[in-house]
Amino acid sequence: MVTDYSAKPSGGLIANLGTDNQMMHDSGSEEAWIEVIQKMDLVYADLVRYQVELEEKNSALEEAQHFIESVQTAMTDVLIVCDIQGRIQQANKALETITGRSEKELLNRSFKELFGESSQHLVDGFADKIRSETVYDCEVNLLRADGKPTPLAMNCSSRYDHNGRLVGMVLIGRPVGELRRAYEELHATHRELKQAQEQLVHSEKMASLGRLVAGVAHELNNPISFVFGNMHALKRYGSRITQYLDAIHKGTAEEEREALRKQLKIDHILSDIGSLIDGTLEGAERVSDIVLDLRRFSGNQQEDTQPFPLAPVVATAVDWVVKAARRKPEVSVDIPEELEAVGIKGLVHQILVNLVQNAIDVMDEVDAPRLQIRGWQDWDNVRIEVRDFGPGIPKQDLMRVFDPFFTTKDVGKGTGLGLYISYGLASDQGGSLIASNHPDGGAMFTLTLKAV
Ligand SMILES: Nc1ncnc2c1ncn2[C@@H]1O[C@H](COP(=O)(O)OP(=O)(O)O)[C@@H](O)[C@H]1O
Ligand SMILES: [Mg+2]
Repeated sequence: MVTDYSAKPSGGLIANLGTDNQMMHDSGSEEAWIEVIQKMDLVYADLVRYQVELEEKNSALEEAQHFIESVQTAMTDVLIVCDIQGRIQQANKALETITGRSEKELLNRSFKELFGESSQHLVDGFADKIRSETVYDCEVNLLRADGKPTPLAMNCSSRYDHNGRLVGMVLIGRPVGELRRAYEELHATHRELKQAQEQLVHSEKMASLGRLVAGVAHELNNPISFVFGNMHALKRYGSRITQYLDAIHKGTAEEEREALRKQLKIDHILSDIGSLIDGTLEGAERVSDIVLDLRRFSGNQQEDTQPFPLAPVVATAVDWVVKAARRKPEVSVDIPEELEAVGIKGLVHQILVNLVQNAIDVMDEVDAPRLQIRGWQDWDNVRIEVRDFGPGIPKQDLMRVFDPFFTTKDVGKGTGLGLYISYGLASDQGGSLIASNHPDGGAMFTLTLKAV
């Protein structure tokens, strides 16, 4: 600023100053003027500096405000800031979007209006609760623009002013509708999968039962056909004996009677009848044994473990499967008559049927199919080894063969559940089932059960 200090004062403030200091010399009053003007300059410079500082602070404040706004706008969680009476003081974009109301419409309304009927008792308690603790993950229903409720996981905490006075609360809610829908979908899929698996396990059981029925039919055919044959013979014998006895009762002469006896082969009948009846009885017993076995196979498997002789169980299992097989292998079974195991007969039978069936399946194209079964006692255990002369199991599949649905068979031929089920049945009786390959080729399955 340029000031002409030599210019004569010409009225106003300066003119008055000039006339009120008549005692002062001209030079003295000029100095006073200069001092005053310099002070004014200083004050003015200070003012300018304050102004600049103020503007800087203002723009920093604006920047901070923008920053906070951008964060609030970007938040996907809902933010509601209320005073202590529950009147909304600030809301973010997420809340505006869900409720379909602008911040202006929301301001000063009670935050409780935003929630559905079923959540009122919860939000009513927020103001009291936050005095002692923060509310975490409280599930409330926010009303959407269309009036329908959408679930939020709500946190609510207290807000204090710079003096540490409680002035309101801050609510942050995470929309959980999507999450819940996804969870419910997952749950439903899991349920369906479980059902499908149960159905498959069931159909595998039915399939193995089907395979067995063919073997059983074969097995039953034999005793039934000789019971039939014997009964026909007995019927014939019966009518001849009746004829002979009639002749005796009529008092036929001895000669004629003897002739009749020869003609009707009565002596032969009498010597044959005993073995005929024994044979028939044996056949009937065989049929009843098969029925008993069948019942054990299909019936109640909840029974307790108990000691039982192994040889007959192995024999029927092998018999049934082999009888139904298209190509019958040469079978050798080496199990001591007296060998007993503790377990559930029907389950052991089912495991052996699965193992023998698999062995026969893999030897379908083998030149000389052979099946070897051995059993022996090994300290506290009984082991049964089922070995075939097929291609064996690739090393990387040795553990996988017990996985549900693991099969190398064509679609429709294998379910991959036989070994999975057998493994479970072995452990149900406190035993185990192991797959390996014999050093001389072929697969070998070892079933271990408890010894008596
Ligand atoms: N004796 C065996 N020799 C070679 N591989 C076998 C033998 N037994 C089972 N496996 C393998 O294990 C798989 C699973 O058997 P399993 O659970 O009984 O189901 P599936 O017979 O329906 O395939 C078979 O597909 C086969 O690859
Ligand atoms: Mg199988």
